[in-house]
Amino acid sequence: MKLKVITSNPGKVAEYQKAFDELGIEMEHYRLPYDEVQTSDLEEVVNKGMDEIVSKGVRDFIVDDTGLFIDALKGFPGVWSAYAQKTIGNQGILKLMEGVEDRGAEFRCCIGCDIDGRRIVVTGVCRGVITDAPKGTDGFGYDPIFSPDGKLTFAEMSVDDKNRISHRGNAVRLLIDALKE
Ligand code: IMP
Repeated sequence: MKLKVITSNPGKVAEYQKAFDELGIEMEHYRLPYDEVQTSDLEEVVNKGMDEIVSKGVRDFIVDDTGLFIDALKGFPGVWSAYAQKTIGNQGILKLMEGVEDRGAEFRCCIGCDIDGRRIVVTGVCRGVITDAPKGTDGFGYDPIFSPDGKLTFAEMSVDDKNRISHRGNAVRLLIDALKE
């Protein structure tokens, strides 16, 4: 069995392959642009994207969407995380959080899988806090300013340590459980 990973990020394909090895499912990188609807709900973005992909005749695929939801900013940047990262970046987020006492935030990763005509949509969450300053050099995106335990940031952890507790790791585990059923 082969699943197409529909993404512009080849790094994700390797990550999924590692997780799906145990099910004997092979991952294939597939580039197919699709619309990301304007909504504050990740699952809606994923479901609408899947509808569009299926309407183009493509089946047996995975898509995902991730967002960082900051409590004190009423969930911003959320579904606009990619745009916020490209524009204001981590420094911009830290500026918005200057003097803010409530540092609570969570990453959410929603994965949609179309397999054998069946649709599975799961969301993995990782709660933590926004740090006062960037820390660490590993990882990507918001990793240097997000700490799951208030001590180390994701950018100070190994990939394996991050995956054990991360939103994406949790989402992949939920998907694999659902596929085993
Ligand atoms: P995407 O949905 O995977 O494209 O992610 C949306 C935005 O969130 C992008 O700017 C990513 O860099 C960022 N992002 C996604 N996953 C993570 C993560 O695990 N750590 C830090 N930033 C992330």
